[in-house]
Amino acid sequence: MPTLNGGYYHDVSAVLITTPMQQTQHFLVKMRGMTPATPHRRIVLGITGGIAAYKAAELARLLIKQGVEVQVAMTDAATHFITPATLQALTGQPVLLDQWQDDKGMSHIHSSRIADAIVIAPATADFIAKLAHGLADDLLSTLCLARDCPLLVAPAMNKQMWSNAATQRNVRQLAADGVTLLGPVSGVQACGEEGMGRMLEAEALAQDILTALSVASSDELAGMRLLITAGPTYEAIDAVRGITNRSSGKMGYAVAQAALEMGAQVTLVSGPVSLTPPAGARVVDVTSAAEMFAAVQQAVPSSDMFIGVAAVADYRVAQPSEQKIKKSDTSLNLQLVPTPDILGWVASQPKAPFCVGFAAESEKLREHATAKRKKKNIPLLAANLAQDAIGADDNELVLFDDAGEHVLPRTDKSTLARALLRHAAMLYKKGNQT
Ligand code: C5P
Repeated sequence: MPTLNGGYYHDVSAVLITTPMQQTQHFLVKMRGMTPATPHRRIVLGITGGIAAYKAAELARLLIKQGVEVQVAMTDAATHFITPATLQALTGQPVLLDQWQDDKGMSHIHSSRIADAIVIAPATADFIAKLAHGLADDLLSTLCLARDCPLLVAPAMNKQMWSNAATQRNVRQLAADGVTLLGPVSGVQACGEEGMGRMLEAEALAQDILTALSVASSDELAGMRLLITAGPTYEAIDAVRGITNRSSGKMGYAVAQAALEMGAQVTLVSGPVSLTPPAGARVVDVTSAAEMFAAVQQAVPSSDMFIGVAAVADYRVAQPSEQKIKKSDTSLNLQLVPTPDILGWVASQPKAPFCVGFAAESEKLREHATAKRKKKNIPLLAANLAQDAIGADDNELVLFDDAGEHVLPRTDKSTLARALLRHAAMLYKKGNQT
């Protein structure tokens, strides 16, 4: 059965299409086979002339996939790096290029009026300078000056340009004016140098933009403090070797991101991963299970909900060697001892937060998940098949609670995370009412 649940489509194929907003969503779904996951939002994506402009195409695609309507506006310089035709094909909308192309000459007012935010990605040093001084000598800068919605800016430039006193002054001015800066980060640059000034990757930018778009209107977890573990742990064998697993951290980070979007305060205790943490989360980086345990123990008293997504190592080496163990021809025995069960400990506390566990099984999903939920004494457990889940971008989850099991069909991890959190929030509120 298709359901329209609090503005989130689960199966849109047979939903009655009535409003223009629903028509747009339906168009996106039909044309791209995608399921909108957030309430309808519209942004103007401003692209300025830097090499990172190529990432804007992927950014547009990711946002559209999440149900955001994207209207692209490009500076003349940007068209030298990426063609308007590419963006038009991806967004299904003509690209705004100059202020005189609109019949009524008012696109600079109109486009920003109907947008929930303007996002400039990439934002060159030159464009940032224009924004800081309120210049309006082309369509995009005019749009920004005439806006009545939030402005998000993703700088991208050479490290020298970024660290130049003028740029730093302009960036500080933008922050003081209430503009949100997304990045930049440090890394290899197009010129071959390495340093600060690289634009955030499209995926990280899309996440930050979704958070910025949703925070104001989604309140399912408003006022709640969520503690989330994510990623693998790494248990040292010696100075250079260790025991870990293939968890990428994507699911835990998606849960943290979704929780922020739904209005929660988030503490993310993360094992070693190569992901950019969601903007707005308090992140505690850890390596081993023992470190993760210590970080969780510290945060539990100020948490309303604990979600253990991390793939915590079950064993650690009893006595890791401080020096690298030298190779020899004889066999090497390592004594392994169990790590603390973090989730089990949290759930057993007298004033335990509402606990959600994850279970990655390779077989007999229902049987193992049910037993695990009982053993750990937790109200909600999300189970998946490890071979489907680890490192993948999408997944299928089965939620187990007192009422039975609920299948969350295969989709991307962000959509799954939101569905899981809605379910957890519902149980949490129900528990607090009884
Ligand atoms: O016991 P098992 O590893 O199968 O349970 C998985 C769940 O327990 C996950 O939520 C995981 O984050 C959590 N866990 C934990 N501490 C451990 C092992 C697992 O918190 N040492």
